[in-house]
Amino acid sequence: MDAFYASVELLRRPELRGQPLVVPGTAIFSARQRAEPNPDDGVLMSKLLKILPVSLLVGALLGSLPNAFARDWKTIQASGTLTATTEGSFAPFNYFENGKLSGFEVELAEAVAQKLKLNIDWKPLPFDGQLAAISQDRFDFAISSHGYTEARARAVDFADPHYCTGGQIGAPKGGPLTAAALKGKSVGVLLGSTYVEAARKIPGIGEIKTYKSEPEVFSALLSHKVDAWISDRLLMRATLNRHPEAGVGMGDPLFVERVSMIMHKDNPELRAQLNRGLAEIIKDGTYARLSQKYFQADISCH
Ligand code: ARG
Repeated sequence: MDAFYASVELLRRPELRGQPLVVPGTAIFSARQRAEPNPDDGVLMSKLLKILPVSLLVGALLGSLPNAFARDWKTIQASGTLTATTEGSFAPFNYFENGKLSGFEVELAEAVAQKLKLNIDWKPLPFDGQLAAISQDRFDFAISSHGYTEARARAVDFADPHYCTGGQIGAPKGGPLTAAALKGKSVGVLLGSTYVEAARKIPGIGEIKTYKSEPEVFSALLSHKVDAWISDRLLMRATLNRHPEAGVGMGDPLFVERVSMIMHKDNPELRAQLNRGLAEIIKDGTYARLSQKYFQADISCH
């Protein structure tokens, strides 16, 4: 199995990007030798020969995947289009309005792309599938309210934060609105989100139920399938403003997070360009306008 991982590592080397993988063994040989001129070629050769059958297999596997490596900045620029994903049910950040993707993050990404003179080709995806989609390079970036965590940062790269926020408890009035009151109570959270971790940290918490989207968590709360809800404070405020009849209130804040676009790890230039675009829309007032439009407040991290 070691040889398998060794060959995956070789295939992941940046100098191999763009190498023809038709005969992966051959591509590995030449790239490896160019990268590390080795006086003892014989030893290297015999080591590589040992992993050759495995690397052929890996090559075949990679060949069947969509793009094993990130599209670099030059390729993106030449295509004129960034491919992006977001979720579409995390209002006011990303949601559908009359069948059209809208929201603070959608407009923000469009404004960033405009600064980079690119279009965006959007393909929405459920939140819990996005991290894997980015590390498999199915999109150039995702903008879907990902809070920075060390675990995520091992899988993908984060751009500079485009807003700062926090996780908060929500519950029917008279329900468990503090961390202490959640002892033995059930809580609903979005699958794959930082709220799952936050819920786990609450001492004595009862059942933690995960749902595929925030509207599903909210309806579970309204139909008493869960006692409380942990979610983003800005999303919660907007949801409760739309549904005053629900009789749900906001409770204790639990943690704070910095939210960024995420992209493939092999793409430092794309990251720099997205950061440049973001800095430009902050400078020219577009960011402030969007923040006021959606939140009537400055939600930036500064
Ligand atoms: N901020 C939370 C997290 O980082 C939730 C993000 C959910 N985003 C979404 N588009 N549904 O996990």
